[in-house]
Amino acid sequence: MAEALSTSTVPHGETTKRDFLALVTGASALVGLGAIAWPLIDSMNPSKDVLALGSVEVNLAPIPEGQGITVMWRGKPVFVRHRTAKEIKEAEDVQLNQLIDPQPDSDRVKPGHAQWIVLIGICTHLGCVPLGNKPTDPRGNWGGWFCPCHGSQYDTSGRVRHGPAPANLAIPPYTFLDNTKIKIG
Ligand code: FES
Repeated sequence: MAEALSTSTVPHGETTKRDFLALVTGASALVGLGAIAWPLIDSMNPSKDVLALGSVEVNLAPIPEGQGITVMWRGKPVFVRHRTAKEIKEAEDVQLNQLIDPQPDSDRVKPGHAQWIVLIGICTHLGCVPLGNKPTDPRGNWGGWFCPCHGSQYDTSGRVRHGPAPANLAIPPYTFLDNTKIKIG
């Protein structure tokens, strides 16, 4: 008659059937949770074919000056923009003490290829994808990218010029295979 046995009638320290059932139920719930969680976590891992796309080649030839494209690399958007001479000069002429995350433009491009800027297109605030690659997109006051989520703005070097983003857009690993082709990753 365990149901009739109230806890107040059980001597202190004595384990009741109800306590035992509660322990068993708790343990089962944990096992069950683990059994459900593992397939879920496992399904979130990249599949083998996605991992195989560890690098992506991009043909730069079709990208006109002043325009950019977005390619996907390892599940992330990567911005590739063909900068104009004016945009390059503006990026190079900035005083570093005006920057939130000071970095010279020359550290953000490959030597001899200043017309190409390659960036991971994920805002460093909370991870939105900034606008600025489509011809109709707003590019913000510094002509780079504008994040519509909370208003961060990036210049033509992908450096943050207006917060709340705390840092410049990251640069993925990439190399020039020739003058019109890069390999990202
Ligand atoms: S995520 Fe870009 S400004 Fe907040």
